[in-house]
Formats: sequence, C-alpha cells, structure tokens
Amino acid sequence: MQIEAIDMAGGARRDHAKLVVEGLSKTFGTGPEAVLALAPLDITLERGDFLCVVGPSGCGKTTLLNVVAGFERPTSGRALLDGRPITGPGAERGVVFQQGALFNWMTVLENVAFGPRSCGVPAAKARESARRLLALVGLEAFASKYPYQLSGGMQQRVGIARALANEPEILLMDEPFAALDQQTRELLQEEIRGIWRRTGSTVLWITHSIEEALFLATHIVVMSARPGRVKAAFRSHFSADPDPLVAATPAFSAAKRQILALLRAESQRAQHLESQA
Ligand SMILES: Nc1ncnc2c1ncn2[C@@H]1O[C@H](COP(=O)(O)OP(=O)(O)OP(=O)(O)O)[C@@H](O)[C@H]1O
Ligand SMILES: [Mg+2]
Repeated sequence: MQIEAIDMAGGARRDHAKLVVEGLSKTFGTGPEAVLALAPLDITLERGDFLCVVGPSGCGKTTLLNVVAGFERPTSGRALLDGRPITGPGAERGVVFQQGALFNWMTVLENVAFGPRSCGVPAAKARESARRLLALVGLEAFASKYPYQLSGGMQQRVGIARALANEPEILLMDEPFAALDQQTRELLQEEIRGIWRRTGSTVLWITHSIEEALFLATHIVVMSARPGRVKAAFRSHFSADPDPLVAATPAFSAAKRQILALLRAESQRAQHLESQA
C-alpha cells in the first residue's frame, strides 16, 4: 500500500506543525458578484512535509497559496506558521508564482541575488550563490540576460532559483513546472527532491500532474470544485522510493488511478459550474 488516506486537519500532527491552515475560507467581492473561492478548509503540515495539492482549474489552489504567502487575507479562519498568524509576506517563505513574476529591469543574475541582497548578504556572496542556483536550473549561460530574452519555461526556472536563493524554510510553488518540457521537468523534479531531502524544508506545491504529485509528495490533497475544500488527503510513500523508475510500477499506476478518479469527478463538477456562471 503506497498511499493511504489521512486526516489532513492534523490531529496529533498539530503538535509539531510548521504550517496550520485552520477553518480558512476566502470570498472575493461582495453582494451578488461575490465569489466563494475557498470553503473552510483545514491543512496541517509538519516540518519537512512535502504537500502536493491537485484540484480542478478555478477551485482555489492559487488563492490558498496566496493566503499562506501573505498576499491575500482570509475571509474567515487563519493560517499559522510556527504557531504565529500569517499577516504578510516574509523571507522565510519562498514563492514561485504560476506566472513568472520576475523584475524585468534586472538581469537574471540580479533577479536571483535580489532576495539575499535585500536581507543584507554581501553582493559578492549573493552573486556567487545566485550563479550556483542558476547552474542548478541549467541557466548559468543566461545570467546576464534580461527576463524578456528568455522563454516562458526558462523564466519559470529563474523563478525557482530565485525562490531557493533565500534558503526558505517553506517553499510555496504554484504549478512551477507547468511550462516546462517533459525532459527538463523530470530533471528538475529529481533536483527538487534532492534539495528538499538535503534541506529538510517544508513544501506546499500545486500541480495539475498526478504523476508529479506521486513522485514528489509525502502528502497529497485533492481539492473539490469551487468552493475548494479538501475532498481527500493521502500519505504517499513513493517519494521515499529510491527507484528512479518508480512511476513504472503497478503500485504507482494503482495510486494514480485512485487519485485520477477523484479528480475527474471534481473536474466534471467544475466544468458544470463554470458553464452555469
Ligand atoms: N482577485 C480575485 N478577484 C476575484 N475573483 C478571484 C480573484 N482571484 C481568484 N478569483 C476567483 O476565485 C476562484 C479560485 O481562483 P484560483 O486562482 O485560486 O483557482 P486555481 O485553483 O488556482 O485555478 P487554476 O488551476 O486555473 O490556476 C476562481 O473562481 C477565480 O475566478
Ligand atoms: Mg492557480
């Protein structure tokens, strides 16, 4: 049994929680135009957990990430980091956005070095670690280019390097690999897994790919159609499997089928909802 259903709200896990999302809901707008994006939802992550969130388009995944990042305030409930309510952005949280959010007036190297520089790291040291991170994402040759000179996938890789540069305790990634080709994606998945194992950081990772979730995650949440709730949550053991071809095993396929069935039902509901909007 490589995945097992769990209660993501926490139970005993709350005692060691890195991140607690508690009764969190979010409504955009007011009156008849109001959109309930997230229904009250509870998630607990322990230090070192790697949570992948999958769910139909428009179910509130980015909204959830934005609240944890501190860019959006919840309508009800709260998000706590190390027991303290999140009220705004912080350097201990590294964010990779769904759409690249690089500084267009800075070179690639300056973009990656920006975070550490603003935290007081000396220029030479910040640039050196930025170069190392750019090498990691295969972009050392593009250090002096500007974001507009890069493809969408390359910009996304700069975004990943920039998020890692602050050595964040918690990484918040919104479909970071969506724009990448299959080969780059697989290489970076292995890199991310390595970085996560070495650093012991906590990760909240949104993806549309069930394979990616099974390959990377210690925990998987399937969200319902809008308003997003936790429809199902699983503990997954594939990410601990040393076999790089684990995705080709029958157990992996069985787990994929199980999650796909849940996701399909919600995607159909979401489509129905959107057609009525
Ligand atoms: N700033 C906003 N103002 C009004 N409505 C918003 C805003 N941001 C998101 N929404 C609405 O909230 C809902 C959830 O959006 P969100 O971007 O969180 O979905 P998502 O799960 O990330 O979707 P996708 O998989 O397509 O990225 C959608 O119905 C969207 O239209
Ligand atoms: Mg989104």
